[in-house]
Amino acid sequence: MARAKATKRKVRQGPKERVRVLITRARIQRRIQALAKEIRRDFPHEPLHLVSVLKGGVFFLTDLARNLTGKVSFDFIAVSSYGQDTHSSGQVRLTRDLDSSIEGRTVIVVEDILDTGMTLQYLLRLFQHRNPKHLRVAVLLDKPARRIAAVRADYVGFTIPNEFAVGYGLDYSERYRNLPYVGALTLGAKKKRPEK
Ligand code: IMP
Ligand code: MG
Repeated sequence: MARAKATKRKVRQGPKERVRVLITRARIQRRIQALAKEIRRDFPHEPLHLVSVLKGGVFFLTDLARNLTGKVSFDFIAVSSYGQDTHSSGQVRLTRDLDSSIEGRTVIVVEDILDTGMTLQYLLRLFQHRNPKHLRVAVLLDKPARRIAAVRADYVGFTIPNEFAVGYGLDYSERYRNLPYVGALTLGAKKKRPEK
């Protein structure tokens, strides 16, 4: 079957880069179905406005949206981190704002991964000032080992160890986003962990 083959495939795109499957496509899909039910249970009668962070959050957003019943709309925002090392600088800059106002709306921020928490801390502060009715966070992956900012997600797909994740939206130098599963990327023989 095509799906089983895809999740077993070993991907090697750059010299010495290796991707090992961490979370299969089937597990991701099952978990997203459950998260969609949980979100709808928390807000049974509210139109939900999903706000995704480009580009990594888009795969999660589309699957989540497909599994949500009731009224759903969405919008996109883009940010970038200053400097090479977001771990130490922690500076986040807005590069694309939302198309529409979130005032009075039930907003779910949809992100690929919660790592240091600097990105979500920045976005939550920004959105809070715009007076949404509710503001919640859904992340596909949570990597608590590297947390700096005191941010937590309301809905978490999977908690993962301190590895560099790629696939299902997550990239390494803009590559691997299209993998239908989440993998762990290692570089070279010494299993060096790539920088963000
Ligand atoms: P944070 O601000 O450190 O929480 O990181 C948020 C952003 O860093 C995510 O939206 C990703 O774009 C990127 N990022 C963090 N960890 C990883 C990873 O393991 N793989 C790929 N991108 C990551
Ligand atoms: Mg991202």
